[in-house]
Amino acid sequence: MDIINRLKAFFHSYVDSYLTGEKSFDRNITIKKQHSLMVHRECRELAAIEGFSENNALLAEITGLFHDIGRFEQLKQYNTLVDFKSVNHGEFGAKILEEENILRDFISDDDAKAVISAVRHHNCREIPEKLTGTARLMTQTVRDCDKLDIYRVVMEFYREGNYDTTILLNLSEEEKVSSGVYEAIRNRCNPHMKDMQTITDFKLSKLCWFYDLNFNHSLREIRERGIDKRLFGLLPELPEVERICKDVNEYIDSRLV
Ligand SMILES: [Fe+2]
Repeated sequence: MDIINRLKAFFHSYVDSYLTGEKSFDRNITIKKQHSLMVHRECRELAAIEGFSENNALLAEITGLFHDIGRFEQLKQYNTLVDFKSVNHGEFGAKILEEENILRDFISDDDAKAVISAVRHHNCREIPEKLTGTARLMTQTVRDCDKLDIYRVVMEFYREGNYDTTILLNLSEEEKVSSGVYEAIRNRCNPHMKDMQTITDFKLSKLCWFYDLNFNHSLREIRERGIDKRLFGLLPELPEVERICKDVNEYIDSRLV
């Protein structure tokens, strides 16, 4: 078996060992497992289209597969996926990969360090300046691919009218854009959770991720999968929303010329 298939076999048995038979707990494990496998696929595609070297393409696949490895232990220990109520799952996953030496038999120490660094930073607000070389490339890759798959999940949730109550519990349904959120997004910055007051704010914050995408492939996929149009379609008709959608559209156009 080649390296990636051996790692996939390991991943399956690792994750399945967390299943308990308790329905709602197992459902969370399965959702995160599915997400990891999808991000792995996104990474493989991105690496091929962006012309990564063979070794970097392998590392990208490994990073995608393991980027959320901390989620399973987080669920087991804290029974939540909310980081601020438990642990930072990126840091936690990196620690697990280090302590359990999972990658040792498969790739060089330097490559393992790059993958672990990408796992650690996949969910931070911005990629730290100090990250360079392969670690930076893997971090950029997994952040894009993670977002592409999260869009799939979020769109499915919205389509079914299910809102993530852990995040949206305190947000008002009023069709309004809060000023802090508007300012941040117009400046291409991710709005702070504390500034979000309405569900419209939250949906707009998902549009803002487009500015964070590192590869043109990812923006092309946003267009081809119609994620931009579908997100626009979920928003109320407000002048602020129109302004933001126009900005976002122009931004994507400018990246794709
Ligand atoms: Fe994650």
